Formats: sequence, C-alpha cells, structure tokens
Amino acid sequence: MASVTSLAASVNQRLAQALAAAVPQAAGTDPLLRRSDRADFQANGMLALAKRLRTNPRELAGQVVAQLDEGDEVLAGVEVSGPGFLNITVNDQAIMRNLAARAADERLGVPFAERPGVTVLDYSQPNVAKEMHVGHLRSTVIGDAIRMILEFRGEKVIRRHHIGDWGTQFGMLIQYLVEHPDELDHASDAESGNAAMARLNRLYKASRALFDSDEGFKTRARDRVVSLQSGDKQSLDLWHKIVDESMVYFRAVYDKLDVEVHEADFVGESAYNDDLAEVCRELEESGVAVRSEGALCVFFDDVKGPDGKPTPLIVQKSNGGYGYAATDLAAIRNRFGELGADTVLYVVDARQALHFKMVFETARRAGWLPEEGAARQLAFGTVLGKDGRPFKTREGESVRLVDLLDEAVERARAVVAEKAPELSEEEVAERAAQVGIGAVKYADLSTSMSRDYVFDVDRMVSLQGDTSVYLQYAYARIRSILRKAGEVSPAPHPELPLEPAERALGLHLDEFADTLAGVAENYEPHKLAAYLYQLATLYTAFYDACPVLRAEGGPDQVANRLFLCDLTARTLRQGMALLGIRTPERL
Ligand code: ARG
Repeated sequence: MASVTSLAASVNQRLAQALAAAVPQAAGTDPLLRRSDRADFQANGMLALAKRLRTNPRELAGQVVAQLDEGDEVLAGVEVSGPGFLNITVNDQAIMRNLAARAADERLGVPFAERPGVTVLDYSQPNVAKEMHVGHLRSTVIGDAIRMILEFRGEKVIRRHHIGDWGTQFGMLIQYLVEHPDELDHASDAESGNAAMARLNRLYKASRALFDSDEGFKTRARDRVVSLQSGDKQSLDLWHKIVDESMVYFRAVYDKLDVEVHEADFVGESAYNDDLAEVCRELEESGVAVRSEGALCVFFDDVKGPDGKPTPLIVQKSNGGYGYAATDLAAIRNRFGELGADTVLYVVDARQALHFKMVFETARRAGWLPEEGAARQLAFGTVLGKDGRPFKTREGESVRLVDLLDEAVERARAVVAEKAPELSEEEVAERAAQVGIGAVKYADLSTSMSRDYVFDVDRMVSLQGDTSVYLQYAYARIRSILRKAGEVSPAPHPELPLEPAERALGLHLDEFADTLAGVAENYEPHKLAAYLYQLATLYTAFYDACPVLRAEGGPDQVANRLFLCDLTARTLRQGMALLGIRTPERL
C-alpha cells in the first residue's frame, strides 16, 4: 500500500515554496490552485495577496514564477495571465508516472486518514410493525455510502439502527395478541418479507379498530404498555414476536436494496429502556432539566414556538412516560460514554433538525457529549413526486418502498433486455436488479443530501445523462475492450506524448484520492458521484478521440491506452462500490 501525492498537491507545494521565497512575509499563503480549461491548473492566490501587500499582482506573479525551478520534473510551463493569475501545465511524463504509481496500488493510491477515529453512525432506522417508506430509503442509502467511505479511509464505524421498536402503540398490538393468540403465527422464516408485512398490517388494523371502539380493550392496552416497560415476561415474549416478524420484512427490503446489515447493529429505542430513569435523574439533579407542569423539560433561549413561548425538549411526560427525546439522550450518552465515539452522526430527515439540535445541546449541558466530541445530523431532504409534492399515493398514504424498488427493477429490465437481446432470462433478471437498484441509489446520492429530489424512475434508468446506468455502461464497455485486447496487456509508457483527451482523463484519474478525502471529511457522497460522472464523460471523450486497440503509434501506445482504460475501470468500480452500486462486467 503506497499513497501517491497527486499532481495538484505537488504543484501546490511548489507554488507555495516559490511564493515564500519571493515574498518571505507571505509564507503560508494558499496559492489557490484549481483545475482549469485554459491550462491544466490555474492559481489565483496572487491576486488577493497583491491586494494585501498593495503591489501589482502581475508583477508579484512574475516574481513567483522566477523562483520556480527551470528543469522541474512536474512543471512543463507556468505563465502569468490576465490580471495576475498563473496558468500551469504539467509534464505528460509526470501524469503517467503518477498514474502508474496509483495503478500499482490496490487502493489506487488512496491514503488512510491520518488520525482515524471512532464514528457512531445512526442510519436506517425504520419502525417496527410499519412499512418502510422513501425516507427510510434515503437514510439507508446515504448511511451505507457514508459507512463505506469512512471505513475505506480507515475510520472505525459503529453502526446503529435506532429503530422505532418501543412506545405506546405496542401496548395495543401486544394486548391484541394476548387476546388472539394465533394471530401472528407463521409457517417459516424463509417466507417472504411481503407476507410478514401483510400480517403486521392486519394485526395493526385489527388492534387499532378494537382500540378505537372498545373502552375495555383500550384500558387493557394501556396497562399492557406499563407491564411491557416493567419487563413482564408474557408482554416481552409477544413484543419479541412482533419485532422478529418486522425483521423478516426489513431483511427482505435490505436484500432487495442490496445493502448489508447486521442483526447486532439493530439497537433500537427499546435497548435504552433501563437507562431512561437514570438519564432523567441525572438531568434533573444537575438542573439541566426542570419540572414544568409535571413534565421533565429542557429549555433553550433560542427555541420558541409561534406564540413566542419557549418550546422545551420533553424528556419525560407528565404521566411518567418516556418519549423519543429520552431514548435519544440515553443513546448519545451510551455512544460517547460506552462506545468510545469521537463523532456521532445521524442520517435523519431534515424535518427532525430541531429535535437533534435540542438533543445535542442537552447532551452538551449534561456533559455526555464531551467538548472535543462532535455530534452532527446529516439532514436529508424530502423525496418528491413528479408533481413536486412530498411523495404520496393517490390515497395520500406514503409510498411503499418495496413498490418503488420493484418498479425501478422492472424498468431496468426493459432497458437491459433491449440493449443486450442475447442475454438469458436469468442474466437479464440479475442485471436488471443491479441496474434498477443502482439507479435508485445513484439518483439519491448524486443530489446534495439536504436537497429535495423528485423520484422519477424513467429519468433514473435513462442511458443518457447523469445516471448510474451511464456509469455502468462506461464500465462494461471498458471491460469489453480489455477482453478484446487479448494478448496485449495494459502498461504505462511515460515516455509517450499524450493527446489532450488523454491528459484530461489522466489528470482526473489522479484526483480520485483527493476527491475522496474531501468527500469523507465533509460527508458529501454527491461529490463522489459527480467525480465518477465526470470520469465517465472524460473517458467517452478519450475513447472518441483516441483509438485504443488500433492506436496509430504502435504497440506501446496500445498498451498505454489500455492502461488508461484499465485504471479508469478500476477507479469507476471502486468509486461506485463506495456508493453501494454494482458494476456488472457485461451489459
Ligand atoms: N425511526 C425514526 C423515523 O422513522 C428515525 C430514527 C432516527 N434516529 C434517531 N436516533 N432518532 O423517523
């Protein structure tokens, strides 16, 4: 494993040194290097610096250039341009040498984080006895990508699926099962998730109907919550039955979504039941929370309702019951206190932002969230229907996640079958799943997380534009060229001059590691998606401009171009894997 210094970093370093040599008092100034259309890179840092020093920016830029080494092995040309920025071209050889070093490393030259820490990642948190909806899709897809990206950098990630598996509605469900013991019996675990969900739906509807119509049942259901929370064996057994049934359903959805989850990471609201009394005691004793109209509340200066009155975080209701806030406080206390987190992340709908703001602030005041610890909600936007409104069925219910996934796979099947009529039915089914699910994930991950997006299956599986199918085709096409190359192996030839399309592709390949570092640091999977889309686009331009197997420069050029193809394929594959998207060898 060898990390590779990107050309951007090398150029930046040289400019920073030259700057410091030309203007000693400017040591440490950022040369502000970026990729450019006019040259390979452009540095704008001299403009602001000249302003600060009250000198002429073009002159300053010229002094910096004068400090650069004539025979530098990376820089091919540096010119002062416009009002005083630098246009920088690098050597073809330097590009190919860098790429060769990346290709020689199975991590493509991506370094591990310098100081990896422990991140507790709270994501994919559906609710027991309920259908999963598009919000749960977002949390699952975004969370899983962030998990893989952080792990790839060497961070220790502890996964927590904080599922909704506790609360008053379980009194009703359990009491119904007590009175109708055969209701949830099922034949075998191998049964489909849909059947499990259907049974849960029936249970939910039947118990709800009784709860609303029968006062006696209502009272018994309420007593049942108390017995459940105090650990009564019969209640717990039936509760487990409901949770297990839900897990059959969840697992079926995760399988379909092609997301790996482990049973042990499902640590839901119920897991903190035994801590809640202590959490409240500590909060009250320290004065962080106060009793207000019987409820245990935490107040904030800057959180007020529309009436101007402060809106508290309610930790314990006046009837003694604990809510969502209490379990989240117990969880954050556990994550820093017991699990050793440096950072806790919550991949949760933006509409819960106020809740997390108050939970984090409370945890800080209580000392559970240490000063150097970071807590952050990775808030995601709403999934919209084509009408631009939150995605609902015509009946106004939230859309079932399974139905959406099935639809995407169905559309993908048509696309795959049309493109490759020679595939067997089995192959079509496998590819359709990889293309359809990849399309759903990519559409989600390629928009910046906080934004809303429209769920449009036709657009998602389109071969044109910024879609995963486009990336998957680029990958499959490269693999097919590599197969056709037969005897000729990809090999870098730094001595060969490069065409513009080769340089553009090469420089972009060299940016993979730097891009990933930024993506991991700021939790921005959409920037990885954008990088990959750009990579596929640059590859297409390269392929159009530069014949590979029939390269006119002879066998070395063929090998060199095959090398570019191969590194592009590996980079695409690695990047897409980090987004949870498959790259079939043929499409
Ligand atoms: N179960 C909740 C929902 O479906 C999400 C839980 C988010 N995580 C948390 N720690 N509160 O909206």
